[in-house]
Amino acid sequence: MSAVRPSSVRHVPVMAREVVDALQPRDGGRYLDGTFGAGGYTAAMLDRADCQVIAIDRDPDAIAAGQALAQRYAPRLRLIEGRFGDMADLLSAEGVEDVDGVALDLGVSSMQFDQADRGFSFRASGPLDMRMEKSGASAADLVNEGDEAELADIIWRYGEERRSRRVARAIVEARRAKRIETTGELAEIVRRAVGPQGRDESDPATRTFQALRIAVNDELGELERGLAAAEQVLAPGGRLAVVSFHSLEDRAVKEFVRARAGRTPGPSRHAPPRAGEQDATLRDLTRKPVVPSDAEIAANPRARSARLRIAEKLAASESSSGGRA
Ligand SMILES: C[S@@+](CC[C@H](N)C(=O)[O-])C[C@H]1O[C@@H](n2cnc3c(N)ncnc32)[C@H](O)[C@@H]1O
Repeated sequence: MSAVRPSSVRHVPVMAREVVDALQPRDGGRYLDGTFGAGGYTAAMLDRADCQVIAIDRDPDAIAAGQALAQRYAPRLRLIEGRFGDMADLLSAEGVEDVDGVALDLGVSSMQFDQADRGFSFRASGPLDMRMEKSGASAADLVNEGDEAELADIIWRYGEERRSRRVARAIVEARRAKRIETTGELAEIVRRAVGPQGRDESDPATRTFQALRIAVNDELGELERGLAAAEQVLAPGGRLAVVSFHSLEDRAVKEFVRARAGRTPGPSRHAPPRAGEQDATLRDLTRKPVVPSDAEIAANPRARSARLRIAEKLAASESSSGGRA
């Protein structure tokens, strides 16, 4: 395990009360926190009931820093370094077959984002890294070695940046002169390519940084695998609670739950219908997502874009009867 640099930043959990209310932890129950971070959700679950929590994080620093919490709640908390997309295998390696609830709080923690040497942010320049796992290809590898069309596609799809082609071209031109090594260098290249933002006050580099982070960590692929794995490991009646921070993630969660609740329409009037309610495995408990209160947003501006969606695993007998309450 790698050495942990002390961070002055503490992650403030977003919508922790709403997530724990959704999961309804009970004495003797077993829950999975797929994104341990600083342990905000984990601690809230363990405080709510005399339950067990198995917590996963792909960041070795988060797992190392969580050992104090594991000791405080011993033997009710187990910490595992790994990806939530692999939760079924990680649980079975622990001898656990199913759980009564799964929480996912997507994206990066404040410890990751605000620590310049993790390379997620352009506010303080650091190495262009962005790897949650601290291994594999970094943002610098992608930016300096990816081809122009691939970069433009990533910046368009994951950053929803209208000027993605212009940004990709500027990156390729800049790296001909010199390898792009820091978040500060990249932010300057992007700002020059995008130009002034008009009424949008966010930094013009924000969308490109989001896109690269999603690509480096394969965040949407992980989300897809994590949702499918959660559906598999949940016991009947168990709840899935997912907090997302941008529209790409929220759409993926919404569509997954809709499809598994049997509410995906056939592609056209003439096409055969897709899986109907008789094949449903989940009940959709939030057709509209839960959003943070004004008070939470005022206290923690990071909560502003959060969306919580909740689903419940059906028993086999319920799905064959249409998945209705
Ligand atoms: C927003 S933070 C979670 C904060 C946490 N709920 C808390 O209250 O402290 C997201 C965490 O999830 C981790 N993470 C992101 N994607 C992951 C994945 N696919 N598998 C495991 N951990 C992941 C990140 O490393 C980060 O520590």
